[in-house]
Amino acid sequence: MGGPVRVEAATEATEELTGALARLLPQLSRSSPPPSREELAQIIASPATTVFVARDDDAVVGTLTLVLFRIPTGPRAWIEDVVVDEAARGQGAAESLTRAALAMAARAGVRSVDLTSRPSREAANRLYRRLGFEPRETNVYRYTG
Ligand SMILES: CC(C)(COP(=O)(O)OP(=O)(O)OC[C@H]1O[C@@H](n2cnc3c(N)ncnc32)[C@H](O)[C@@H]1OP(=O)(O)O)[C@@H](O)C(=O)NCCC(=O)NCCS
Repeated sequence: MGGPVRVEAATEATEELTGALARLLPQLSRSSPPPSREELAQIIASPATTVFVARDDDAVVGTLTLVLFRIPTGPRAWIEDVVVDEAARGQGAAESLTRAALAMAARAGVRSVDLTSRPSREAANRLYRRLGFEPRETNVYRYTG
């Protein structure tokens, strides 16, 4: 590790990628099980979701998913599930992933890109502000039944 980080949009739910997500996603959320290979294939096949992958010396070190969709007020974008392997942090992988997502959202004609990040995620919040994201005055609600 230590070379330049490369970012690409995943095109195939390979065993390698499925395994990489199984390693990375628990570092983001302990409550959500990582997707099976079939589930990952569905995510990649969906026109609404793009799974970006960051590689360092070929090894997958990070991921981000961009969600693009249209609603009556226009095209919208969300960034979700951003995580970089603990051993590869601080090398700009998350920055490269986020810039790749912003570039794709811009190509799709989206004027703004949304994300949420808990205040306790200090590295993430610093990163997003450094890249130009600004806090938005709104209430975030969740219904869990
Ligand atoms: C947030 C996260 C994705 C950032 O990944 P990253 O590739 O280290 O990010 P970058 O290198 O582009 O920069 C992030 C910042 O974290 C700092 N940082 C975090 N961990 C670091 C480490 N182990 N060593 C050095 N710097 C570190 C970087 O210096 C940088 O700080 P700056 O913005 O003040 O310059 C990663 O820390 C992570 O996966 N955290 C756990 C999951 C999470 O919080 N995801 C975001 C959900 S919203």
